[in-house]
Amino acid sequence: ELKDNTIIIVLGASGDLAKKKTFPALYGLHRNNYLPRDVHIVGYARTKMDHEEYLKRVKSYIKTPTKEMEEQLEEFCNKCSYISGQYDQDDSFQNLEKHLQKLENGRKETNRVFYMALPPSVFIPVSQHLKKNCYPRNGIARIIIEKPFGKDLPSSRELQQALGPDWKEDEIFRIDHYLGKEMVKNLLILRFGNEFFGATWNRNHVDNVQITFKEPFGTEGRGGYFDEFGIIRDVMQNHLLQVLTLLAMERPISFSAEDIRDEKVRVLRGMASLEPKNVIIGQYEKSLDGSKPGYKDDDTVPKDSRCPTFASMVAYIKNERWDGVPFILKAGKALNEQKTEIRIQYKDVTSGIFKDIPRNELVIRIQPNESVYIKMNSKLPGLSMQTVVTELDLTYRRRFSDLKIPEAYESLILDALKGDHSNFVRDDELDASWRIFTPLLHYLDENKEIIPMGYPYGKSSTHTTSRSRGPAVLDDFTS
Ligand code: BG6
Repeated sequence: ELKDNTIIIVLGASGDLAKKKTFPALYGLHRNNYLPRDVHIVGYARTKMDHEEYLKRVKSYIKTPTKEMEEQLEEFCNKCSYISGQYDQDDSFQNLEKHLQKLENGRKETNRVFYMALPPSVFIPVSQHLKKNCYPRNGIARIIIEKPFGKDLPSSRELQQALGPDWKEDEIFRIDHYLGKEMVKNLLILRFGNEFFGATWNRNHVDNVQITFKEPFGTEGRGGYFDEFGIIRDVMQNHLLQVLTLLAMERPISFSAEDIRDEKVRVLRGMASLEPKNVIIGQYEKSLDGSKPGYKDDDTVPKDSRCPTFASMVAYIKNERWDGVPFILKAGKALNEQKTEIRIQYKDVTSGIFKDIPRNELVIRIQPNESVYIKMNSKLPGLSMQTVVTELDLTYRRRFSDLKIPEAYESLILDALKGDHSNFVRDDELDASWRIFTPLLHYLDENKEIIPMGYPYGKSSTHTTSRSRGPAVLDDFTS
């Protein structure tokens, strides 16, 4: 664990990720006394700014509704400093090194955590310059990087190989921020800490598993980035696949990072690559009332873009537990609401005494309004034997009303400071996940005649209800 003598260096300190996630999370950790004692936080980016201007900018990233929080922000700013420089020049990094040494002030032990809040085009040169010019002489080095980790299996391997000679696997922390979300972290406990879930968690009882991600906004302002990646690379190959993996993996021998990740890799290796026939893609158009723009109305998006902003797909895991059970992944931008949830739909109750009774479902709402509930048949109170669907409901807001759910980035940065890799993506895990998606992605990229189906911005969607019989839900593509 990094206690004292640590400097956190945020590269790309004036970019979007730093602004929206990295700095608010570092401040959150500071407020709750989770940062190492005497920590320094050094921002690095190309923009030239003096110290005052920089602090003003950092302050603008962070909300402080109370007086106490304002004071804590002042304390936080006392730990912050800034260096501007290029991403591809030795002298810029030598300059950063001088600054770091000054802060270290002759200390013997010098730990450095490099947070790469950078566009992928500069990942490699920056990581090489850091190794060459700013690697700690006598202390722990860690490098935190974030997707996109390539665009397919070959480009992801290229990136790994470029990092490889400079950074050891245990120094690298690959963030998938879904792994820092409270409900995602809860999955292992729910599954392996409850006998009744454990016993039914297999193909004998589960009919299908649905993992759905919906956002009520489009790619406004990010069209340039998004168009190169599309929804499948943006959230499915990483965030949704991570959720699937945690749902499907076997019980790890322990909670250690390697034991958990060994099981995750094993389940990914048991998955067949996705088949185009099991995939539907869509792209949003103007909203029905004309008030919201279509995807291609964005000036940074090519007019003939075939980039999917919605996708729905069925994946299968060929092992004893899951063979034949469809895992249905759906993700879309510019839909009617914000919601990420998991729905595990059980099989029909054996017929006989009941006719057409709804199926049980276990729903895990990742966001917003975290909750876990089971849809369960019960007798409607009264004099008849009528059944009714009821919920066994654990809503976090009610049950844990006095606890704050931490931000994913707070949880992950703290793990990286502690050196705990459990919630970070291992190299072989990344490889295995790209293997599943790459043939499909290449097929969609190369076949120009495949055009995503249009859907209006804000399209509402209905869930597969517990009454539904078959698992396939690819006919109406947002249902
Ligand atoms: C990011 C994607 O990784 O995750 C974004 O690039 C997406 O497109 C975001 O909006 C969703 O994260 P969250 O935490 O808001 O669900």
